[in-house]
Amino acid sequence: MGVFEKKFSEPHLKELDQLIDGAIGKARRAGEFSGKANECLILHASGEIPAQRILLIGLGPRRQVNLEQLRKAAALAAGQLKKLRLGTVACALPLLDLQRTSLPARVGAVAEGLLLASYRFDRYQTGEKAKAHGHIGKTFLLIDKPVEKAAAEAAIAGAVSLVRGVTLARDLVNEPGNVKSPSFLADQARSVADETGVKCRVLDRVEMQEEGMNALLGVAQGSEREPCLIILEYEGAAPGNPPVALVGKGVVFDAGGISLKPAEKMDEMKMDMAGGAAVLGTLLAAALLKLPVNLVGVVPAVENMPSGSAIRPGDILTSMSGQTIEVLNTDAEGRMILADALTYVERFEPCLTIDLATLTGACIIALGHHATAVLGNDDKLVGALLKAGETSGERLWQLPLWDDYSEQIESTVADIKNVGGRPAGTITAAAFLKKFTDGTTWAHLDIAGTAWRDKPQVYGPAGATGIGVRLLIEFLKQLPERRP
Ligand code: BES
Ligand code: MN
Ligand code: ZN
Repeated sequence: MGVFEKKFSEPHLKELDQLIDGAIGKARRAGEFSGKANECLILHASGEIPAQRILLIGLGPRRQVNLEQLRKAAALAAGQLKKLRLGTVACALPLLDLQRTSLPARVGAVAEGLLLASYRFDRYQTGEKAKAHGHIGKTFLLIDKPVEKAAAEAAIAGAVSLVRGVTLARDLVNEPGNVKSPSFLADQARSVADETGVKCRVLDRVEMQEEGMNALLGVAQGSEREPCLIILEYEGAAPGNPPVALVGKGVVFDAGGISLKPAEKMDEMKMDMAGGAAVLGTLLAAALLKLPVNLVGVVPAVENMPSGSAIRPGDILTSMSGQTIEVLNTDAEGRMILADALTYVERFEPCLTIDLATLTGACIIALGHHATAVLGNDDKLVGALLKAGETSGERLWQLPLWDDYSEQIESTVADIKNVGGRPAGTITAAAFLKKFTDGTTWAHLDIAGTAWRDKPQVYGPAGATGIGVRLLIEFLKQLPERRP
């Protein structure tokens, strides 16, 4: 059950407190539980009610409680349940009377929180270690109006589909580099296509050569592993409707290339395909949810390695757009593969393009781990994304993309250079991408700080967060409403 801060007046809670001899009131008076956000209290019943234990979750001040707080409360509950290894659970969170929310919305939020927090990545843990994880038993979500049962069930099904997408993204990001080659990602995309009926096409190196994708191929040439370009197309609206294009950085491992990264934490650079994972996860979820939109997802998949065949600092590459790029730092590889992917996606004549990328360490300096940076060339699109961020809980913060920043990436020998110096590293990276959007309505999401957590999160264990999927699905759900 959820409890608003200092307000133990919720009818269901009062009723329960009476049944268990005022134990909740006692705990409150003893200062053991006040309903502050994220507080937990476990009480033991002794036969007065069918349950053996009661888990109370603090929600914070009543006026501030929204769907996100409800999702978090559910996730916290899931964490407690896992620890205690309890069997069957009845969750009363949806019963809370939150302002401006419908019961299906609350049921969906609670289901989402429970499911996200139940995630784990234990594929590589054998024997005792694997068994050490707690499970959550059967979970019931309580509602009190039987007429709302069908809508509540639909909301649960929706949450299950959404979390499938998030789980796919998390799994792909958590997968180690030795397993996760570009062709592994392509196989994963093909299984999304097999399950949902979305179209999948994968360009190999030769096909990309024919397209002139030399920026992408330049990054890939230091690795033994063949690069590829993954294209998924989902048709949820009428065939003529211009699609929303989603482009995700798919660097399966970023060693930095010849501009080699320091050894410390280099292992985390297996997460450098989190943008691509978000695109695959979003297409999966969108198709399962049957969203009424057309989508095209593009993932440039490469590995950035140092070797005798790798590109060097000082090299000049001719991108698919024809613009030449002076490579001053081979570790600024993401923008180069995205450049060609952004040019490629133009042939689908999208109504708008959103790219996601773990693009800059500077983004972590600017925003830390609590917000994704958003930049773009269209205020309406950025505004809609910011709103989707608030609603979904995957929050964004906008950085400016004024023309002034482009000076930093002017090259003396080529059209542009791939680094803009230390000031505003996230912005100059976006300014670089902007040169390849050719006037399309476009937004860029830098997820470097939000794709990976080295400590457990409310919504799951340490490691991949699956960032982007919940945000984009929320954005896509709002999209038809914004159109004339
Ligand atoms: N993948 C990294 C950015 C990154 C760093 C993501 C830390 C997540 C955590 C990217 O390819 C990179 O190396 N960027 C460089 C750019 C620089 C050379 C201009 C960076 O941020 O240092
Ligand atoms: Mn890099
Ligand atoms: Zn990178």
